[in-house]
Amino acid sequence: LPIVIALLVAAYLLGSIPTALWVGRRFFGLDIREHGSGNAGATNTFRVLGKKPGSVVMAIDVLKGWAATMMATVMLNQGAIQPDQLLYFQLACGVLAVVGHIYPIFAQFRGGKGVATVLGMMLAIAPATVGVCILVFLVMLFIFRYVSLASMSAGVAFALLQLLPAFRPDNVLLLYFGFILAALLIYTHRANIGRLRAGNESRVPLFGRK
Ligand code: G3P
Repeated sequence: LPIVIALLVAAYLLGSIPTALWVGRRFFGLDIREHGSGNAGATNTFRVLGKKPGSVVMAIDVLKGWAATMMATVMLNQGAIQPDQLLYFQLACGVLAVVGHIYPIFAQFRGGKGVATVLGMMLAIAPATVGVCILVFLVMLFIFRYVSLASMSAGVAFALLQLLPAFRPDNVLLLYFGFILAALLIYTHRANIGRLRAGNESRVPLFGRK
């Protein structure tokens, strides 16, 4: 039991690493939360600081979700949990990392919106479903050029896809978590939803389109 608790705490702490904030501070001397959308995430890092820092933040934030989920595998290998409990602990570790990313203990609990970390977590748990969600994200981004809308669409797609026989998970818990995470992403994007409705959400200048 101590190892299980230690790894659950570690998953939250890992998610709490405020990558966008630290990259902005360390290499650009600014608080990313005072620029662009004010979000401490990969999208705003791309927007404010450029492609290279944006890609680094994206990669690390995805990795946080993936690595946190792997802590459940460590628990299993240590004999702390049973094989039939693996999914439960993968979900618990992944969600704790996502919560850490959104409410980081290392950044006054003001973090990002959870998209990259949910992506990393679900890549470890349901890669095929995530593959389709990435396509949904790219198509939505290409058409509308709002990262927020594309992110929410991908999250909702993840939940809905699992209702199809081809993507139905063995364990119904994953289905419930799909809907919980989609709802969480919509919640973290509430300011974006307000801007989308008001028509002043910022667009990605894709292929020279302004
Ligand atoms: O990475 C989160 C994305 O969906 C929206 O970010 O900065 O446009 O609010 P942002």
